[in-house]
Amino acid sequence: MAINMKGKHLLSIHDLTKEEIYQILDTAEMLKLRLYAGENISILAGKTLGMIFQKPSLRTRVSHEAGMTQLGGHAIYLGPDDIKLGRRETTEDIAIVLSRFVNAIMARVFEHKIVEELAKYSSVPVINGLSDFSHPTQIMGDLLTIREKKMHLEGIKIAYIGDANNVANSLIFAAAKLGMDMTLACPEGYEPDRKVLTMAKADFEMSGGSIKVFREPEEAVQEMDVIYTDVWTSMGQEAEREERRKKFQGYRIDMRLVKMAKPDAIVMHCLPAHYDEELDYEVAKSPNSVIYDQAENRMHAEKSILVNVIT
Ligand code: CP
Ligand code: NVA
Repeated sequence: MAINMKGKHLLSIHDLTKEEIYQILDTAEMLKLRLYAGENISILAGKTLGMIFQKPSLRTRVSHEAGMTQLGGHAIYLGPDDIKLGRRETTEDIAIVLSRFVNAIMARVFEHKIVEELAKYSSVPVINGLSDFSHPTQIMGDLLTIREKKMHLEGIKIAYIGDANNVANSLIFAAAKLGMDMTLACPEGYEPDRKVLTMAKADFEMSGGSIKVFREPEEAVQEMDVIYTDVWTSMGQEAEREERRKKFQGYRIDMRLVKMAKPDAIVMHCLPAHYDEELDYEVAKSPNSVIYDQAENRMHAEKSILVNVIT
């Protein structure tokens, strides 16, 4: 029987059960197939998504907006200069008022506590479209991609190379819930937060998954099914860019590193990528790379999240 997720906020993968994750993936797969078959599914006709952005976006904005259109609904973009989140009125009032107009809110914010505050005061579901702590809609699209390529998720060996940032946190939570074996390789000072590892511990024990943190990328990628990386400098950290560029030398995904993983390993990146930094252009364009499938799957996964929490 389907799990009822109507009204549920999605602030972190950690908030979802394994069963809810699979339900979102199954609905996403169905919606993708039906879209490809040319079917018109107006299941969100008359529904509106309010999208708050404190930071720039290509994928998150367009995938949610196009997704709403495909489902017969509508999305409203509220950029940094529209509602001036945090500067014009309280976040509490924004949540209360906006949720009187729309059926769901998606927000991309600097501080995670802002999405928590929106969720606290909103009467409609709030979806985190990226905060400094997590990026759950990204990881739902990524899980869909891994399942499409590898046919299953449990037992998948996934290596994350680089900065243990918001994307890495969400991947850790997903690995813990679904029983994946995860390795990370991070420079000193950029390892996963203790709080994240503590939060994920019980789920790893329950699912039979594992997590190991290495210093050297070469150790982390051995025999892996998936190699994942993200930018060294996330949005909001621009002042640290030069320092980070120096500290992350040696953490770039190149073909030499890819060859140390399984021969059919897939390479993932949430994008936007910096080809002179964390990922070689050659790798991005190689047969191992699934970066553009990942980007597309954002939309299918988000449509599924919207359907699950709105209807
Ligand atoms: N991956 C991702 O969230 O991309 P955008 O920043 O372009 O939305
Ligand atoms: N870690 C990156 C992800 C961008 C989609 C950032 O927060 O900027």
